[in-house]
Amino acid sequence: MMAALAVILSCLLATTPFTDTERRRIAGLSGSLESTPDTTNKVWNDPAAALLGQRLFFDTGFSLNDQVSCATCHDPATGFADGKPLPTGLAKGSRHTPSLLNVAGQRWFFWDGRADTLWSQALHPFERAEEFGSNRLAVLHRVHDDPVLRREYESVFGPMPPLDDHVRFPSDASPDAERDSTVSTAWEAMSKADQQACNRAFSNLGKAIAAYEHRLVPPPSRFDEFVTAMLADDSEAMAEYPEDARRGLRLFIGEAGCRQCHFGPLLSDLEFHNTGIPPGHGGLPKDAGRWEGIKLLQANPFRASGQFSDDQESIRALSTDSLARNSELWGAFRTPSLRNLNQTAPYMHQGQFESLREVLVFYNTLEEMVVLDHHQETVLQPLGFTENQLDDLESFLMTLSSPELAPELTRKPGVEPTGSSTEKQD
Ligand code: HEC
Ligand code: HEC
Repeated sequence: MMAALAVILSCLLATTPFTDTERRRIAGLSGSLESTPDTTNKVWNDPAAALLGQRLFFDTGFSLNDQVSCATCHDPATGFADGKPLPTGLAKGSRHTPSLLNVAGQRWFFWDGRADTLWSQALHPFERAEEFGSNRLAVLHRVHDDPVLRREYESVFGPMPPLDDHVRFPSDASPDAERDSTVSTAWEAMSKADQQACNRAFSNLGKAIAAYEHRLVPPPSRFDEFVTAMLADDSEAMAEYPEDARRGLRLFIGEAGCRQCHFGPLLSDLEFHNTGIPPGHGGLPKDAGRWEGIKLLQANPFRASGQFSDDQESIRALSTDSLARNSELWGAFRTPSLRNLNQTAPYMHQGQFESLREVLVFYNTLEEMVVLDHHQETVLQPLGFTENQLDDLESFLMTLSSPELAPELTRKPGVEPTGSSTEKQD
């Protein structure tokens, strides 16, 4: 009797028209995913820069062992993530690889937001010991000595520094050498002007990569199609959307409270929270997240307000400089987008949860939640939903998955014969 009643009730819920408030909330979860141009990057919309960026993205030649590219961890076949809890480049990393689909819609990059632009983010992997393990000058020499990369670089950014001169420009040098002190000594020995020229050229590589990355915007999802139909009052098209997903959507924007943090077209507030997910290594969390991220960002010469930015007065730049650290940010991580979850398991900043169901069970029970004694947000309450309600939420989340990207964005670009135009098209 009770079961029959529950079925009738849930059918009714699925077909009850959405209220005006619900419609407004639902419409807010869709909308254009094309990001507004980043004015700190003057080649953001330059197709020749994007082509170079795509080439760099798939190039394994920048890593110490010639085997790791950006695509090793951000593999187009798994939503530009790696399908593992923690990544392996040259060594094992300590945070989960995020998907790069729709990444340009984010305001801060990395789980701790330690980069404020996509281009400055792209500079980190080159010099990180566990990613490419390379250094600034080795990276620039490779671009300089490779005819295709050099031609494409110079067509976008103008001449490279005179890297043929190995006395002025040693093979290995960087201010950020993590392990090798000879690499930092070699950097110290360079003239300030040459260091500056190399930093500028290095920042340009990041800008080219960003010009490619912001194109990783897949077509609309089933959910977006549903919203379009809802806004047009097209009940026939609305009926295409599964009933269980519709019930899950209603929970998501209502009782489940998910939209407190997961809202807007990316289903992310683009900010940082401590949700108390137990760390993958057990025990207490060791990763300070945003707390440390702000410090690293404000010290980074490649930040939006720094000298390599093309718009040092932008809102992006000003907001970085005015960020303040408060103790709530210790252990806080950026709210991830909830799009394309079908491709991006496992989930969370250490890949703690293998499946979406595990994520939902966590929110449902908050079992094993880690509460730190210093200030922590207390937004989350156990949901206490039934298994059917969790099924509905899961069905809704799955409708946020898009069809695949255009194939030309997901592979290493071919090389056009010398002489043909790789020049700017506009
Ligand atoms: C060894 C694996 C690995 C390699 C190689 C790698 N990444 Fe990542 N990437 C990660 C991990 C792990 C994170 C998250 C790290 C963190 O938040 O501290 C990340 C974060 C990012 C982000 C931020 C995404 C977001 O949502 O904020 C972007 C963008 C990105 N990588 C692009 C690149 C580019 C471009 C390259 C090549 C130049 C690259 N990655 C190479 C593993 C890798
Ligand atoms: C207080 C803000 C907040 C609320 C409320 C919230 N989330 Fe989250 N969500 C986050 C943050 C922050 C993370 C990343 C946490 C981490 O990795 O440590 C996250 C991660 C996730 C992930 C993993 C995504 C990925 O790619 O790793 C899913 C799925 C998710 N949330 C769904 C939900 C659902 C469904 C609800 C409602 C039941 C919800 N969230 C409520 C902030 C929130």
